[in-house]
Amino acid sequence: MDRIVLLPGDGIGPEVVVEARRVLETVASAQGLDLEFAEELIGGASIDAHGSPLRDEVIDLCRESSAVLLGAVGGPKWDAMAVDVRPEKGLLGIRKALGLFANLRPAAVIPALADASTLRPEVVEGIDLLVVRELTGGIYFGEPRGRGEEGGKRRGWNTMVYDEDEVARITRVAFEQARLRRNHVTHVHKANVLDVCQLWMDVVEEVAKDYPDVTLAHQLVDSCAMLLVRDPGRFDVMVTGNLFGDILSDQAAEITGSLGMLPSASLATGGFGLYEPVHGSAPDIAGQDKANPLAAILSVAMLLETSLACPAGAAAVRGAVSHVLAAGHRTGDLVLEGEAREVIGCREMGRQVLAALEAK
Ligand code: IPM
Ligand code: MG
Repeated sequence: MDRIVLLPGDGIGPEVVVEARRVLETVASAQGLDLEFAEELIGGASIDAHGSPLRDEVIDLCRESSAVLLGAVGGPKWDAMAVDVRPEKGLLGIRKALGLFANLRPAAVIPALADASTLRPEVVEGIDLLVVRELTGGIYFGEPRGRGEEGGKRRGWNTMVYDEDEVARITRVAFEQARLRRNHVTHVHKANVLDVCQLWMDVVEEVAKDYPDVTLAHQLVDSCAMLLVRDPGRFDVMVTGNLFGDILSDQAAEITGSLGMLPSASLATGGFGLYEPVHGSAPDIAGQDKANPLAAILSVAMLLETSLACPAGAAAVRGAVSHVLAAGHRTGDLVLEGEAREVIGCREMGRQVLAALEAK
């Protein structure tokens, strides 16, 4: 028996997690998996109910489970709060507490959606990349950090720090992933300015020696941002630190056509993982049945593959999603302005995926 913890969170999180859960249940019974579900609060929902974005009980429950499926955290309601008690702190806290150091964010064009990108079709066509982002270190967690006053002036500071073990383990994940793909790793850095990135350079080069079958390139983060819009097809696996990965993964997501499509996995050593859509809580459309559940559903595919060792289940989910899109079903985010197309809601999109699964 495998226990899956659902953390729907805030905004559209609960809407997309419900649909993803239905998909997971359907695939599990078809594949003979024995699953049990537990549901808990995180983020703003947890602040409202318990006064804190993440409780120790929830961390313990996750530790005793096989995987976590998360919706999203945050929203305007909690925006005025200090960084240490905000909803986002719950997400950062769970990453750190569960040792989820490897964040995998694939960004690929689904052919039926190529026209939803803001980039020209011929540029978008070849996009199939994976951002491997370090998730429990770097400037997000580095000490010292804080705000204060010196000489009558307000100051704020954070520290970008990595040790060689943190760099080596994320680099290995990237090279292993590259072996499952097109055997190319791009290390993204700012070593022309930052000392910490010079350490990354050295360690990435050392690890690369164990993967002679994988090619390695180093790319400065600013020019990488530029190349991502000019020639995204050149990238296979990108490996980078927490902050650069945060920024580039949003950019990579958007150029594929819709942030609403992209799943992610945050992995610890040994197969445990937290899976979540990349899109965030989208408070502007929350509670209106307008969200796109496909990123959450595709996160279920990653969960099946990685934490439940069920590649056949993962393939079934991906097949069903492709089928539904090829049949022309679209949530609002997948439709260009001025395009004459029927738009369906979150619930209906979930139903379509279930129907496609059951038709198999
Ligand atoms: C992400 C998000 C988070 C991050 C926020 C919500 C803390 O932007 O998962 O990319 O910065 O890591
Ligand atoms: Mg982000």
